[in-house]
Amino acid sequence: MNDKRRIIIDCDPGHDDAVAIMLAARNPKIELLGITTVNGNQTLEKVTRNALNVCQYLNIDVPICKGLAGPIVRTAPPVEERVHGDSGLDGPVFDPLTKELDPRHAVDFIIETVMGSDKPVTLVPTGPLSNVAMAMRKEPRILENIDEIVLMGGAYQHGNVTPAAEFNIYADAEAAHVVFSCGVPVVMMGLDLTRQALCYPEVVERMSHVKTKAGKLFVDLMNFFCMTQKRTFGWAGGPLHDPTTVAYLIEPSCIETKEMFTEIDITGGQSHGRTNCDFFNLMTDKEKNSKVAVKLDVEKFWDIVEENLKLYEEL
Ligand code: BDR
Ligand code: CA
Repeated sequence: MNDKRRIIIDCDPGHDDAVAIMLAARNPKIELLGITTVNGNQTLEKVTRNALNVCQYLNIDVPICKGLAGPIVRTAPPVEERVHGDSGLDGPVFDPLTKELDPRHAVDFIIETVMGSDKPVTLVPTGPLSNVAMAMRKEPRILENIDEIVLMGGAYQHGNVTPAAEFNIYADAEAAHVVFSCGVPVVMMGLDLTRQALCYPEVVERMSHVKTKAGKLFVDLMNFFCMTQKRTFGWAGGPLHDPTTVAYLIEPSCIETKEMFTEIDITGGQSHGRTNCDFFNLMTDKEKNSKVAVKLDVEKFWDIVEENLKLYEEL
């Protein structure tokens, strides 16, 4: 048995999701068991196509399974075209797609893979939590073989889709409630952390010296991403949210976390989808169910990105 961390990335690519995949697929400390897709940044069809395109271009040979086309209870919020473009991954131009999907539904893939693994699996969700919650409800025994859920979502400070809520949690708050209350430890890379991972033009310039296919894809993705961040929010560098999850798995010391109780607001009011994080441990009767990320070692983070982009075929 190898000692690599076994992970499944459940995602909605997405520029930052694509970078998360790049960091995980070749890293020697990680065994990427598969990629599952979920409606989020863009429609399920588009994000699934994007996952296939990224893996075809980078020769990443893992099962890719399509999941839920919307949240488990409510209707989906609008897709995020302003940031990720019409395709959900605007910027790079890919060859015609020949890579095929794995025929299994994402929910069944998660269940089969976790149940069939002879050591615990880590789930790495970087989109809305619909597939993960559904898998937990369909086969609760998977909880016994998941060691951690390292996800991007939420914020203990300010949201990005409403003042209170972050997109991934807001997009399927009931699913997030299932996940945060499932009993498996959650590591939450919220906006408080990811807003420290700002991809400025200097970063893009630095990565342009990595002459691999992944280096080129990073640059093509980030040139578009920086442009939309500037146009939409007026920022020169956008937060590269999702790769913080994988960076944490590769080198936990690059992210400082604080253990606390976190509960999702599913009341449907103006704070719907908020991650209510008990930062000051006020609710002493509640068990701490999450490690919430508070501080990023920015230098170490970009070093991790660069080192992992170098692991791909030269151009
Ligand atoms: C999250 O929403 C998406 O736009 C990103 O891919 C990230 O997962 C940030 O709120
Ligand atoms: Ca995402």
